[in-house]
Parts: sequence; C-alpha cells; structure tokens
Amino acid sequence: MKPTNKPKNPCFSSGPCAKRPGWTLEALKDAAVGRSHRSKLGKAKLADAINRSKKILGMPADYICGIVPASDTGAIEMAMWSMLGERPVDVLCWESFGSGWAGDCKNQLKLKDLRVLKADYGKISDLAQADWSHDVVFTWNGTTSGVKVPNGDWIPSERQGLALCDATSAVFAMEIPWSKLDVVTWSWQKVLGGEAAHGMLALSPRAVQRLEGYSPDRPLPKIFQMTKGGKLMGGIFEGETINTPSMLAVEDALDGLKWAESVGGLRGLISRSEANLACIDEWVAKSNWAAFLAEDKAIRSSTSICLKITDPAYLALPAEAQAKHAKTIGSTLEKEGVAFDIGSYRDAPAGLRIWGGATVETSDVAALLPWLDWAYEQVKATF
Ligand SMILES: Cc1ncc(COP(=O)(O)O)c(C=O)c1O
Repeated sequence: MKPTNKPKNPCFSSGPCAKRPGWTLEALKDAAVGRSHRSKLGKAKLADAINRSKKILGMPADYICGIVPASDTGAIEMAMWSMLGERPVDVLCWESFGSGWAGDCKNQLKLKDLRVLKADYGKISDLAQADWSHDVVFTWNGTTSGVKVPNGDWIPSERQGLALCDATSAVFAMEIPWSKLDVVTWSWQKVLGGEAAHGMLALSPRAVQRLEGYSPDRPLPKIFQMTKGGKLMGGIFEGETINTPSMLAVEDALDGLKWAESVGGLRGLISRSEANLACIDEWVAKSNWAAFLAEDKAIRSSTSICLKITDPAYLALPAEAQAKHAKTIGSTLEKEGVAFDIGSYRDAPAGLRIWGGATVETSDVAALLPWLDWAYEQVKATF
C-alpha cells in the first residue's frame, strides 16, 4: 500500500544537510551584507560564531578555533600540509574521505614514512594498530560508510604524535573527547544545517606547538598559512579570517548555533540524532530487505545512516543491476517529494544513506520509513 503521510521536510541529504526546523530566509535578515568582514560588526559576528561553537561543543579553554577557507576539506588539508612530515604518519581510513586524505598524504605531500590502515565499507580500521609515536589522521565519522569511531579510548592521553581528526559529520551530534584530539575540523553544512563555504579548525596547544616549531619543506599557499615568522597568526582564531568569508553564510551559521542552544545544546543535539538512528534501527530490525552497512552497533553512525539491501532476490542480480535498482529507490521517492538525496555516495556500495543529524526531525524519519518499503516493492516488481 502506498503510504499517505509524507515527511514534512523531505531533505535527508548528507551535506548540505536539512536546515533547522522552522528555518526561513528571514533568519538571515541581520546579516552584515555589504559590510567589511574586518569592520567592528563583521569581526564581532565572526568571533561570535567561533565562541558559540566552542561553548556548545565544550572545547577546552586552551584550545583555539578558527574559521578557514574551503570548508572541511580546506581545514583538514591546511592542517595536514602545515603539520605533517615532522614524524611518521598513520592514516586510518574506512571510506571515501579518509581514503582521500591518505591519497593526499602519499601523492601530494609525498610523505615517506606513511602507513595507511584501511578497512572496507561498513567496517573500521584496527584502531589498536595506530602508533601514537606517529601523527595519526582519521575521520571521526565516515560519512560515506556510516561508520564512526566508537569513542576516544584508543587514543592515549600521553601521546607523542598528534591526532588529526576530520570530524565534519560528527561534531554537534556525537561526543568528541577533545583532550584526545589535537586537530579537529568540520564545516557548517552538516549537523547544524548551515551554508557551505567555510571550514572550522580547532587546535590543541600541542598542535600550535607543532605549527610554531616545525616548518615543512614544501610550498604552502596563502590560504594554508597559519604562522608568520614562526609565530601563530592568532587573529585567525579570533575572527580575522585569512581571506574574505561570506557574511550571509556567517549569519546562517549563527542562526544554527542559536537554534542548537535552544534545543539543549550539545546534549539536545546528540539526543535528536540518536533518536533518528533509533527510529531507523527499529524499522531495520523488522525489515526483510534492508540492513545497516555498519553491522556493529558500536561503530554505527547516527548522522550518515547507511543501509544495504539484503533481499536474496536483489543480491542474486548482477552488480550493475543492483546499483541501478538502488538508485531507482531514491529517484522514485524524490519524484514523490518524500525524500531527496538518499542514494549512497558515488564510491560506496549500492544502497541508501539517510541523514540523521540534529536538524532532521524524528517524525520525518518515521514518516519516511513506510515509503522505503513501498519504493522497494515498486523496484522489486521490475527485477
Ligand atoms: C568525512 C568528510 N570529510 C570531508 C568532507 C568534505 O567536506 P567539505 O565539502 O565540507 O569540504 C565530507 C563531505 O561530506 C565528509 O563527509
């Protein structure tokens, strides 16, 4: 039976993610458009975005946080290019983005002393293999596989190397053990549903020490430079951005942060995301055709919730047909206005990916699930 109840908001994309409930363009009415980002007003807004982020995330007082160019990619790349090479590097990866960082370490940074600890989609690298006399690069949540690290217990408090963590689809939805991490990056368009453009870069005192004490033998473009004459350019971490930000995007980020405060801060955001996963978990438990790509609950993401199709009739099809049918589920639901952008990532195994970050209402997830069953039945009828 075709369901009748549709999600109020059909946006389930894993980035850019759904705007917060109730968002309209009105939220941007106080944006400092047409004003210099170096004006008193502009700088105050940039500093406000930094300070609210630090507060909501419970960042230690001695950590610094800045707004940097080029989204999460810009933030993690500027950290890798500025800091790596001083000691051996381990990259842990289990999906596309982590593999991308590993590839850049090898082919662009040309790091000689590099180990890549890889796992398949749905699994996680053997975290015990990380050597903490090395620098260690990893993603907290693999957005394309729906696999997250279970916690920070595998990271020693006393470590010689730095922990560089791309946490873009984790911050504001998962507990982040700050003292275990030296570099943490994210963007605005994920859990708080902001606009894309800028990256956030948080640094521990040891990361700052590395920046001031090590100068890699490689050219660094201006947008990666964080030191001058061997000293940290502290202004970057107080709202003096390296280059011009979008004040419209800044206003939107502030709106997201204020909304985050209104739903109970970090605890509220985490509960919202976990409720979304729980809702899908209940459905998966009864499903005769879908399962989580991440079989182990401890590493299952509550933000990028990835599903695989387990129906034997589907699995008997050739890989190309499987991919085509999985895509058709997404396009069928898009046509119905029920769900946008729920196909799995282009490099990931065929299946579905439903964003369960804090801006997604659990009632919308619940409304989507019967539609998944309906769409699968439609597609199966064409096998
Ligand atoms: C884990 C991870 N890293 C990096 C990126 C790239 O982020 P951005 O587009 O913000 O640079 C994404 C985007 O989805 C991601 O999920």
